[in-house]
Amino acid sequence: MRIKNLYLKNFRNYAEEVFSFEEGINVLYGKNAQGKTNCAEAVFYLCTGTSPRAKKDRQLIRAGEEAAFIRADAEGRFGSVRIEADIYESSREVRINGQKIGKNADLLGNIDGVFFSPSELRLVQDGPDERRRFLNVSLSQMSKSYYTALVRYNRILEQRNALLKNRDLELVFETLPVWDRQLCRYAAEIAFRRRGFIGALAPVAAERQAFLTDGAEKLEIFSDKKYEGDREEIERRLEEELSANYERDVRLGFTASGPHRDDLKILVGGTEARVYGSQGQARTAALAIKLAEVEIFRQEAGEYPVLILDDVMSELDLARRRKLLARLDGVQTILTCTHTEKVLFGKSVNKIRISGGKIRR
Ligand SMILES: Nc1ncnc2c1ncn2[C@@H]1O[C@H](COP(=O)(O)OP(=O)(O)OP(=O)(O)O)[C@@H](O)[C@H]1O
Ligand SMILES: [Mg+2]
Repeated sequence: MRIKNLYLKNFRNYAEEVFSFEEGINVLYGKNAQGKTNCAEAVFYLCTGTSPRAKKDRQLIRAGEEAAFIRADAEGRFGSVRIEADIYESSREVRINGQKIGKNADLLGNIDGVFFSPSELRLVQDGPDERRRFLNVSLSQMSKSYYTALVRYNRILEQRNALLKNRDLELVFETLPVWDRQLCRYAAEIAFRRRGFIGALAPVAAERQAFLTDGAEKLEIFSDKKYEGDREEIERRLEEELSANYERDVRLGFTASGPHRDDLKILVGGTEARVYGSQGQARTAALAIKLAEVEIFRQEAGEYPVLILDDVMSELDLARRRKLLARLDGVQTILTCTHTEKVLFGKSVNKIRISGGKIRR
């Protein structure tokens, strides 16, 4: 997958700008607070329909303006695609090849994107939410059925949790099995897909970690919850688990088991990186996981995703920078940094200098 160009209008600190991206590494460089990350963010937004950092779309609109507009033309295995997004205060319209889409699921999978920035350290160091988010963002791009199951699961889960707070216990116990039948169908899809993804990701991430650390650090990744069998079996077992825990859930007032509670264990050198890892270890593990994600996208979609590396070079020592760059062959990369020299080691790259929300030539 390759993005050929990106047009921004009233997006963040950009009034109007056009970026041309090349096949290999595209370096956005410039001083702090000039718009490098903003550009990277726009690219990821067109990949997933969400920003990697903004909670609300309205933050993306240039201050004082009413709407932002982003457009990208990309080319992949299945031909070219144009994606456009009009972003308003409280709504948006996304078009693919001129056709307005009704739901975000239809955007996913058009341009696959992997985003990595220093805050992805959260993946290793924060609570389970971050790791589930990683699984959800990645898998949603790879599989529409995952995304759809996830949206429906969350909706039913919300209703189930509301029900659990109801005082009419007779009604609660009568209604729970009805919700659970639906809930578990989607839960099984989520758990099944995650198991496949983690199974594929783990050995590749371990290999990337070994590469980045010259074999010094062993990385292990697995789910804290084991699901066995096919979707039907997972569904059946989840239903049993839920019904065995009605009392617990009623007492707690929420659903205390299911894929929304599962976690990903990340071990470096045999101990949990979140608890025992150094900052540098966590950083390298997060990078290894992201590089593995790029590879899994290739296996799943038949081509590499667009890789967005926001500000990661400054966080790595020279040896690791060099190694990282060696792993980017064939992957269109959008890389932001403040200095281009030391980062690039004479690679031929497309350099774009950004200052004050404008490209400087
Ligand atoms: N909605 C918005 N409207 C106008 N300006 C905005 C908006 N959102 C962010 N900005 C501005 O964009 C600038 C930051 O851009 P960005 O995060 O892309 O910087 P950067 O070049 O990546 O810098 P750094 O090297 O520090 O990461 C800030 O000056 C910020 O005030
Ligand atoms: Mg930045």
